[in-house]
Amino acid sequence: MYKIAVIPGDGTGPEVVREGLKALEAAAGVNGFTYDLHTYDLGGERYKRTGEILPASVLDELRGFDAVYLGAIGHPDVAPGILEKGILLTMRFALDLYINLRPVKLFAGVETPIRDKGPADIDFVVVRENTEGLYTGGGGFLKKGTPDEVAIQESINTRKGVERCLRYAFEFTRKRNKEKKLTLCGKTNVLTYAFDLWQRAYNEVAAEYPDISTDYAHVDAICMWMVKNPEWFDVIVTDNMFGDIITDLAAMIQGGVGVAAGGNINPEGVSMFEPMGGSAPKYTGQNVINPIAAVAAMQMLLSVLGEDRAALQVESAIQSVVSRDMKSMAAGRMGLSTSQVGDRIAGYIVSP
Ligand code: IPM
Ligand code: MN
Repeated sequence: MYKIAVIPGDGTGPEVVREGLKALEAAAGVNGFTYDLHTYDLGGERYKRTGEILPASVLDELRGFDAVYLGAIGHPDVAPGILEKGILLTMRFALDLYINLRPVKLFAGVETPIRDKGPADIDFVVVRENTEGLYTGGGGFLKKGTPDEVAIQESINTRKGVERCLRYAFEFTRKRNKEKKLTLCGKTNVLTYAFDLWQRAYNEVAAEYPDISTDYAHVDAICMWMVKNPEWFDVIVTDNMFGDIITDLAAMIQGGVGVAAGGNINPEGVSMFEPMGGSAPKYTGQNVINPIAAVAAMQMLLSVLGEDRAALQVESAIQSVVSRDMKSMAAGRMGLSTSQVGDRIAGYIVSP
């Protein structure tokens, strides 16, 4: 019996989570596992009502689940940053979700803005370090508000934090078993301290993985090649800030935020899965938002629970609905409603 915490969140979050849960229900039926859901009303509405963002008691309870499933966080009446920092970033740090895993796969039938590239070319995974770098909040102001003001934002890279991320990436590349190539994405020509540490740690860990081809590219070059030659990539590993940036680019080439999902993973603890898209206030309550990303997040959740067969079934159900039934990945132009997409996916989840 899996214990799953559900945080539908704001805006269209609850609408897409509902469809992801339909896929879970179908997969459980077919594979014979059971689960127990516990819903938390975190998000902008609760913050406006009670002033609470992520109570310490809730954070503590989350540790007791097998996985966390999140819809979207972000509210038009709440200043940007409050909920993102208070919920998403706090969860990453407090639960030590030190891997941000972002599969970038173009499904057949999904449109990519990259001319002449198809599903065979766009199929890679980004492993982003998720608890260090520029995200730690290190730094400060000096003489704030004066003409002599100084603002320092520090990138913290610990040997331990970098190494555990690299080890996860090497293991992941081995298990994925595609080209068995792991590209380190850095900026060794300019960030000569941070990426010197990354490069040395990468080289040392690589020696333990003779079956994995090593590769390095500067982050700016990665942005060019992701557009020009996305087929060059198998697995990319990088720091927190670069990972944040390149995964938004990657989401666009795989068909947009309607299809891109991510996992915030603690390989030794509880992990959280979410669609990449935001709360989309203008589409809220209209049953027009694309739930594919949320279903893909559920696929990742199942895979991390060890339900590999169920995860594969969900993936092939996604493939079926996007190629057979959906007209577009854009909200309002799918040719189906949000709930119809979810129903079709659930219907496609069958025993192999
Ligand atoms: C992401 C988001 C977050 C980040 C924001 C919402 C804090 O962009 O998950 O990539 O910057 O990591
Ligand atoms: Mn981001």
